[in-house]
Amino acid sequence: MVYDRALLLHGSKRNEILTLAEVQQYGIDSFADPHYIRLYGMTPSEWYARGIRILGRTAVECTRDPLGDRIGRDVASVAILLPAHTTFTVIDPFAGSCNTLYWILRHVPRSTGIAFELDRQVYDLTKHNIRGLDRTISLTHGDYELLMQDPHIQADRAIIAFVAPPWGTALDETVGLDLRRTTPPITDIIQGIGRKYSGHEILFATQVYEKVNPASLEELQAMLDWSELRVYDLNAAGRNHGILLGTRGWNP
Ligand SMILES: C[S@@+](CC[C@H](N)C(=O)[O-])C[C@H]1O[C@@H](n2cnc3c(N)ncnc32)[C@H](O)[C@@H]1O
Repeated sequence: MVYDRALLLHGSKRNEILTLAEVQQYGIDSFADPHYIRLYGMTPSEWYARGIRILGRTAVECTRDPLGDRIGRDVASVAILLPAHTTFTVIDPFAGSCNTLYWILRHVPRSTGIAFELDRQVYDLTKHNIRGLDRTISLTHGDYELLMQDPHIQADRAIIAFVAPPWGTALDETVGLDLRRTTPPITDIIQGIGRKYSGHEILFATQVYEKVNPASLEELQAMLDWSELRVYDLNAAGRNHGILLGTRGWNP
């Protein structure tokens, strides 16, 4: 059996907890690296020994440490342009492993995290996994749209929203990732969060692909006061991830 994206994301391992050997096999078969799935600052054998467990789907969907670290640094590089005393609430409406949120919290000073996860099994495992970490994350089970109606965030706190919903069929390798066709659409998420927290300074960090559908990017940028696209170099050219940083309510 080959431990690849198809088996873990869409095949029999999707909703199964992986053994350490399977996590390492996925790294070997798909990326020639048994330590590929680094999470929360640890190699697979280190996190597995601490009782951390993930489903097949989460191994594919998660942001691994090298990318999480880069995203965290880039988010912090803009967040620190707000006045020195600013405190931050970082929201991840699509938590998955919570690893991206963890890295943002590691890099952004005076920050605390709120996250939502729809899938019961992913939620249960992540809730358990993040318990012993050195950053505080409040994780709630449910649909982000309902849960987002709730959190009241003190008016003097700035908000950072990390936007990485499942891409579904939104990625077309020729035209690029259509930000209006993810599930739910990234454009809707940004509008919703922007409306709810309209009195706050907001920094959005949207996970994108190296190739983004230009019309969808333009539409998204028009919703923001300032924006900047940053693409990473962790994978082969043309297959990299990046983030669109963007603000509402302030200009860096
Ligand atoms: C691409 S993964 C996120 C990966 C995450 N950034 C990480 O570092 O692991 C998307 C996650 O969002 C969850 N999800 C999908 N739709 C959702 C919704 N409407 N509300 C909350 N969570 C949702 C999925 O179950 C999945 O775990």
